[in-house]
Amino acid sequence: MNIHGQPHRSIEADHATQSARIIDQTFLPHQVEWRELRTLDDAAEAIQVMRVRGAPLIGATAAFGLFFALREDATDAALEVAYHVLHATRPTAINLRWALDRVRRVVSPLGVEERAAAAWDEALAICEHDVETNHAIGRHGLELFRAIQAKKGDPAATLNVMTHCNAGWLATVDWGTAISPIYQAHDAGMNVHVWVSETRPRGQGASLTAFELKEHGVPHTLIVDNNAGHLLQRGLVDVVIVGTDRVTAEGDVANKIGTYLKALAAKAHDVPFYVATPVSTIDWTITDGIRDIPIEQRSAREVTHMPGLNAAGLREEVLIAPEGTQARNDGFDVTPASLVTALVTEHGAFLASADALQQLRSMI
Ligand code: MRU
Repeated sequence: MNIHGQPHRSIEADHATQSARIIDQTFLPHQVEWRELRTLDDAAEAIQVMRVRGAPLIGATAAFGLFFALREDATDAALEVAYHVLHATRPTAINLRWALDRVRRVVSPLGVEERAAAAWDEALAICEHDVETNHAIGRHGLELFRAIQAKKGDPAATLNVMTHCNAGWLATVDWGTAISPIYQAHDAGMNVHVWVSETRPRGQGASLTAFELKEHGVPHTLIVDNNAGHLLQRGLVDVVIVGTDRVTAEGDVANKIGTYLKALAAKAHDVPFYVATPVSTIDWTITDGIRDIPIEQRSAREVTHMPGLNAAGLREEVLIAPEGTQARNDGFDVTPASLVTALVTEHGAFLASADALQQLRSMI
């Protein structure tokens, strides 16, 4: 998608140097800083400190990380070490394991001298697959948006969409998952407006989703997270759509902390609650999201402090609670399948149920 009118991906391969360029998301929305990744440590650090984030982009970055490691040492032992270093960077997004498994499956049967080249090709293939997948999710999501719009009875009426966190192109290689249908609706001439919840404490809504939507010219309004219930109650939201970090085989959904409350409020007000998910985000090995999905525990400092630009335009962090306040920072929550209207995948929309997901599985 575009930054200042120029098309970009969130991660770009440099074929000459066999490195990967990422947008360092810790500088957004105030600065667009590109950063080169050349080593296993570069890739692991970028995921760990959230220079890249969002389930699909974490996976793509990890795939390059495995290539960087194999370029140095392609033995079985080095492969296993690199796999575990990358796998340990963040716990919740299953795309990390999915991408690492995909690269390992390709390289393991090969001779040591062939492995790095195969890993590079696989990392590139993962990126291309992600872009196609997200475009397809957008097409299926757009059909759902059109159906909701049709019920409003006025094709020119504004479709008010609420989202949480960032599931746009910055969370993937391109297009995004939950934001892909929004881009496609906007591009198709639909009057779409987005309620962007700020997503405390890291502010992915305020700093990333608002940035993306502004760059693409999609009308949007930033709200504090606690405003969501109020807007749903007043009939100001036609549909909620979010991304996900892991979906169980029975349709429970882990996503950024605060998603569950939005799902509860959407259910109470009979507003559709969609979860956009590539098949790579479904963890077929687990069934109960509350029991089985590991929830990332993050630093208390993210809760007690807020970063931003000061009056001089410099980045600054301020303390917003009494010095020494104890804080808890769960990175994600789980929305039970019963609150999810449908999962929007690259193969179409599916009910969040074991049966429907088995049907999806049989198609892939
Ligand atoms: O902690 P983050 O910023 O990596 O969390 C990201 C999210 O929760 C996204 O909503 C999710 O990964 C879906 S991204 C397409």
